[in-house]
Amino acid sequence: TTVTATGTVKAGAPGATIDRRIFSQFAEHLGYGIYGGIWVGQGSKIPNTRGYRNDVVAALRALKVPLVRWPGGCFADEYHWREGIGPRNKRPTKVNTNWGGVTESNAFGTHEFMDFAELIGAEAYVSGNVGNGTPAEMAEWVEYMTAPAGTLADERAKNGRKQPWKLPMFGVGNELWGCGGNMKPDYAADLTRRYGTFIKVPQGTRTLKIASGANAEDYNWTEVMMREAGGHIDGIGVHYYTLPGDWAKKGPATGFSEEDYARTLSKTLKMEELVTKHSAIMDKYDPGKRVNLAVDEWGTWYDVEPNTNPGFLYQQNSLRDAIVAALNINIFTRHADRVRMTNIAQMVNVLQAMILTKEGQMVLTPTYHVFEMYKGFQDATVLPVELKSPWYNNAQWVMPSVSAIAARGADGVIRVALTNVDPNRPAAVSLTLDGVTATGATGRVLTAATIDAHNEFGQAAAVTPVAFTGAQMAGGTLSATLPAKSVVVLELR
Ligand code: AHR
Repeated sequence: TTVTATGTVKAGAPGATIDRRIFSQFAEHLGYGIYGGIWVGQGSKIPNTRGYRNDVVAALRALKVPLVRWPGGCFADEYHWREGIGPRNKRPTKVNTNWGGVTESNAFGTHEFMDFAELIGAEAYVSGNVGNGTPAEMAEWVEYMTAPAGTLADERAKNGRKQPWKLPMFGVGNELWGCGGNMKPDYAADLTRRYGTFIKVPQGTRTLKIASGANAEDYNWTEVMMREAGGHIDGIGVHYYTLPGDWAKKGPATGFSEEDYARTLSKTLKMEELVTKHSAIMDKYDPGKRVNLAVDEWGTWYDVEPNTNPGFLYQQNSLRDAIVAALNINIFTRHADRVRMTNIAQMVNVLQAMILTKEGQMVLTPTYHVFEMYKGFQDATVLPVELKSPWYNNAQWVMPSVSAIAARGADGVIRVALTNVDPNRPAAVSLTLDGVTATGATGRVLTAATIDAHNEFGQAAAVTPVAFTGAQMAGGTLSATLPAKSVVVLELR
């Protein structure tokens, strides 16, 4: 049986602009996230440009990645940037204490990251070391990256880069409540003020300072950070991961039951409550919404794949992940007035990745396809949607089966994204769009035979977008029949 959802798109009452940075990525020195996934080195037999994998670079360029966060994560608060500059064969190596205890070669450092970001057309969001670094070390790193002249600029030039880099965002540590130093919020707020004071960039340029944010529903963290340091920062993070189970037993990435699926989606929808409540606290201290709520880590976190290093966080990515991605992006865009950057964790080979690699092979995950399908929402203007959705439930997990957003693109085109989470029943959606004269609706759909369908190396893709023919536009009303467990993105013309 097909269920029915009806609603209205308030095309005449546009909302906030969807900052393209909502679609940003996170790349940490973790597992094969950088080494093997992005960087193989010039000597590799895997085709590369100056050491970066050609296949991965091309896929990321096609995704229009707005911005990448680097080098961590937990890695950031033990990272000493000087170890990652200069001739590669002279760089010190060390143990990656957070992730698998493997040797960090420092082959990928500041120059390699900044060059990579430019190669894929993305901005840089660099996270500094508050945990075991000094304010001087952090200040000098910022100067090294951005100064047009001086000793550090000369050193940068000697290392191959004369022009200063653009540094639109800088993180004042990461998870200061945990791996970043196990601090209490008042102390973290004081350190944020202190370290932030010395993040100075050349006149005429701007670097937004992003404070280390709360762990999920730790609202007190946001309260204290905003109260004590809100006037000194431009953004504050929040991290929330979707685990089907708990930290001890998270659950597998594939081969799960429908109840696991429903529980996962229900837990991911908690993002709505988190963003709403953290925003409400920020509103108290910053009613003008100057400070960005940056969800700078989010995504699914499963048990690692069998026989892989538990410290590498390597997991498969299925149709369930695609639906998780779409639901979260829809939440972020509805809060686009406050949420102006998010970073899914992580870009390649780690957690909810866009891309998985195995030696010279690469697959694009279902999550990649959602980000790719949503490209037209970057910098678009929200058109609020009021929707009456039927319910999907399994065991005690109950949620609306249809999630919808609409926006007017920077190119003037109206786009509608529709997700049907119900794995068993199609949904007939009917949306009236006030004042819209479009006569056609075309787009693509992402779905598959099973909720854990995924793309395997060396096989035809099981989850890949195809043209969608189930939508019509007539008399100002959009009608679309969404297949069960699908994501559809439409353009109205
Ligand atoms: O993304 C993996 C880890 O999760 C990050 O390093 C850390 O910030 C978070 O706990």
